[in-house]
Amino acid sequence: NEQQLEAAFQARIDAEEKIEPKDWMPERYRKNLIRQISQHAHSEVIGMQPEGNWITRAPTLHRKAVLLAKVQDECGHGLYLYSATETLGITREELIEALHSGAAKYASIFNYPSLTWADIGAIGWLVDGAAIVNQVSLQRTSYGPYARGMVRICKEESFHQRQGYHIMMTLMQGSDEQRAMAQDAVNRFWWPSLMMFGPHDAESAHSAQSMTWKIKRQSNDELRQKFVDQSVEQAEVIGLTLPDPDLKWNEERGHYDFGEIDWDEFNRVISGSGPCNRQRIAHHVAAHEDGAWVREAIAAHEAKKQQRASK
Ligand code: ACO
Repeated sequence: NEQQLEAAFQARIDAEEKIEPKDWMPERYRKNLIRQISQHAHSEVIGMQPEGNWITRAPTLHRKAVLLAKVQDECGHGLYLYSATETLGITREELIEALHSGAAKYASIFNYPSLTWADIGAIGWLVDGAAIVNQVSLQRTSYGPYARGMVRICKEESFHQRQGYHIMMTLMQGSDEQRAMAQDAVNRFWWPSLMMFGPHDAESAHSAQSMTWKIKRQSNDELRQKFVDQSVEQAEVIGLTLPDPDLKWNEERGHYDFGEIDWDEFNRVISGSGPCNRQRIAHHVAAHEDGAWVREAIAAHEAKKQQRASK
């Protein structure tokens, strides 16, 4: 019966076995995974917008080629993750519809505008840096297709993080104006980057269950702390100041203490009222509609092929 199946399922999870698409799984596990992986996929795809915005204005041909490659990687990440979600028995059309209707979320960070070239550095360094901390942990997630997707994504993501840090380092070695531009980008992107890890553990609706099922391997607050600890040193090396007066080393904890996130802002942004939410979704809807003819052409071609084969 259901209870025995669920106990056997949990035993497999506890033994660190991966769950594969055709294995038995509780319906709530399947739903929770569809929710998390699809939101992760949407984040990768919507995340192309703030950076795509700068491809034509990158300061050198080299930077342009690198940024173009990076944005294409993000698209690829979205596609692996949509495929992983589809193994759970939901269609791509349903997933896109949930994004467009607002039923599915995507990472809050991509609702902030990229105003200057330094923002591309800050996004690579901080946003991709935060994404890696989370995704390294997800390489050990219990669902096989998700875990395997994360391995490749992490490799590419670490290149993204370095390209961002390199932009920041270059700006910090430049003129006063360039240094000010880099600092301004950090001032605007630091707090939203900390929000990427989600609410505090005590406020996190899905955490307890996701940790038991080993969908999540480390908690929102643990991962956020790890990110803060690594970023402080990276900022110091190139002379940037993180905009938090409460940031200081705590000898006893062996970690940096830091200030409180503006949770009102977080809640506004995840519920659709951040600076760019409407623009991001409108752009995705328009791109999806513009691409309708490609999907229709593929379907028509497939139908013709099948007709020919059945003659
Ligand atoms: N942005 C948008 N929504 C968020 C964020 C955020 N930064 N943090 C939490 N939420 C949402 C959750 O999706 C959930 O909403 P839902 O119930 O409508 O799905 C709600 O807030 C409550 O949060 P939690 O219970 O903590 O949710 P969860 O356990 O899923 O943890 C987390 C959130 C940490 C983001 C998790 O889903 C995760 O690790 N996802 C995979 C990583 C990912 O999506 N990265 C995307 C950014 S990286 C990139 O694209 C470069």
